[in-house]
Amino acid sequence: MTAQFGSRLDGVDLRTTLRGDPITRERYWSREFMQREWDRLWTRIWHIGGMMRDLEETGDYVMHTLGRESIIMVRQEDGSVKAFYNACLHRGNRLVQAEVGGAPTLTCSYHGWRWAPDGTLLSAQDPEDFAGGNPCGKLKLVEIPCAVWGGFVWFNMDPNCVSLQDYLGPVADLLAPYGMEDMVRVMYLTAEVDCNWKIIRDNFNESYHLPTLHPELATFINDDYTDTVFELLPNGHARMLMKGMEPSARSPDADKILPPLDDMMRQWDLDPKDFEGRTKEIRRAVQLQKRKLGPARGYRHYEKLSDDQLTDYHHYTLFPNLTFTMSADGYQVLRTEPHPTDPEKCIFDHWFLMHPVEGVTEVDVPIGRVPFVQAERVRFKHGDATLGFVADQDLSVAETQQQGLHSRGYTGGVLTGQEGRIQRFHELLDDWLEGRVTL
Ligand code: FES
Ligand SMILES: [Fe+2]
Repeated sequence: MTAQFGSRLDGVDLRTTLRGDPITRERYWSREFMQREWDRLWTRIWHIGGMMRDLEETGDYVMHTLGRESIIMVRQEDGSVKAFYNACLHRGNRLVQAEVGGAPTLTCSYHGWRWAPDGTLLSAQDPEDFAGGNPCGKLKLVEIPCAVWGGFVWFNMDPNCVSLQDYLGPVADLLAPYGMEDMVRVMYLTAEVDCNWKIIRDNFNESYHLPTLHPELATFINDDYTDTVFELLPNGHARMLMKGMEPSARSPDADKILPPLDDMMRQWDLDPKDFEGRTKEIRRAVQLQKRKLGPARGYRHYEKLSDDQLTDYHHYTLFPNLTFTMSADGYQVLRTEPHPTDPEKCIFDHWFLMHPVEGVTEVDVPIGRVPFVQAERVRFKHGDATLGFVADQDLSVAETQQQGLHSRGYTGGVLTGQEGRIQRFHELLDDWLEGRVTL
C-alpha cells in the first residue's frame, strides 16, 4: 500500500502531478543555488515579520532580519501597518536595531535624520545644504507590501506579489477556528543550525521518520501513514492530519495505555483502567470530555474547534519555509530561514503559542513549564540549549545529513510514497527558481 494523498481541496493528485525532477545534492550547499533562491524565492514570497501584539500604538515597530536584509514594520495612526526596508536613505545606516520598539519618529543614529511612521523624512540636519533643495517632506523610506493575518504582520519584498490572502488560499479558512490572532507566544526560540534550510523542510515534509526519531510519540499519536491524511493545498502548501489520543497502529503496544497517554486521559477525568484493551475508543471519549468540561475550565476556544481538532495534530506546511503544528491547546511555529552568507547553515525558529485561559499562569510547552507571558526571544547555536525534545530529535540528524550529502556515494534520493511532499517541495522550488511560477 502506498500513501494516499487527499485531493479534496484543489483536485491535485500528487502521484500524477510529480515530474520526478532530480533532487540534486548541490542544492544543499551551492552558493550559486543559494543566490538564486534569494533572487527568485525569498525576495518574492510572504514572510512573517512579527506579532501584532507588539504593535499597539502609532509608531510601534517590529524589525525582522532575513538573510542580509532587514525590514521594519510600523504601526500607523489609522491602525494599519506599513513595511519598509530598514535602511536610512541618507547614507544607508540601518535605522532600527531592536527587534521590537516604539517611538513617535524613527531617528537614524548616524546624522539624526528623523522619519515619520509613514516613512516620510521629517527633519534633517542643515536642510538648506542639498543641491536639490530641502528633502524633508519629500523623501520617503522604500515601502514594500505588508499585511496582517493570524496575529502576525507579514511582508513581501516583491512589489508585484499576490495578496497574502491569495497566497494563503484555503489555509486561512482552515486555520480560522483555532483563533490564532488571540494567542500569545509563550516560547520564542531561535537557533543557528549547521545545515541548509531545506534539510529541515524535508524533515517536516514527511512523517516517515516518526517511528525512528520520535518513538516516544507512538504512545499517544497514531503516526501510521495509512491512518494519516496527507492533503495538498494550492500554492505549494499542504497539511497532514494525524490522530492524537490514540497509540500508533504500527506500534507493537498499540493496545496498551502507556505514559503520557494515561495522564492525558486523567486530565479529562477519564480512568485509563476503563479503557484497557479498547485504546481505539480513547480519542472519542476525550473529545466528548473536552467538549463537556472544556468551557467551564476556561477553554472557551474549544467551542470553535471540530471534534477532530480537539484531539488531533494538524500539521500545515506553508511553502516554502513555515510549519504550523496545530493542537487544541496551542500550536508550534517551525520556521527555517536562510543564513545571511553560508548555504550550509540556517536559522531555525521554534515558537509555541497559546490562548489565555482564566486562572492559568503557567503552561506546558515543548521545553517544559513556563509562565504564561509573552516570551522574550532566546537565541543560541544549535546544541547549546534545547529546542524541545521532539525538535532536538529532528535536528539530531540535520548536520550528519548535511555532511552525507557531500559524499560522491550519494547521487539523489530514493523516496517512499509517503515522502511525496518532499518531491513536490523540490519541484515547486525548481519552478520558482526557473521562473515558472505565475503567482
Ligand atoms: S545615514 Fe542616516 S542620517 Fe546619515
Ligand atoms: Fe519530526
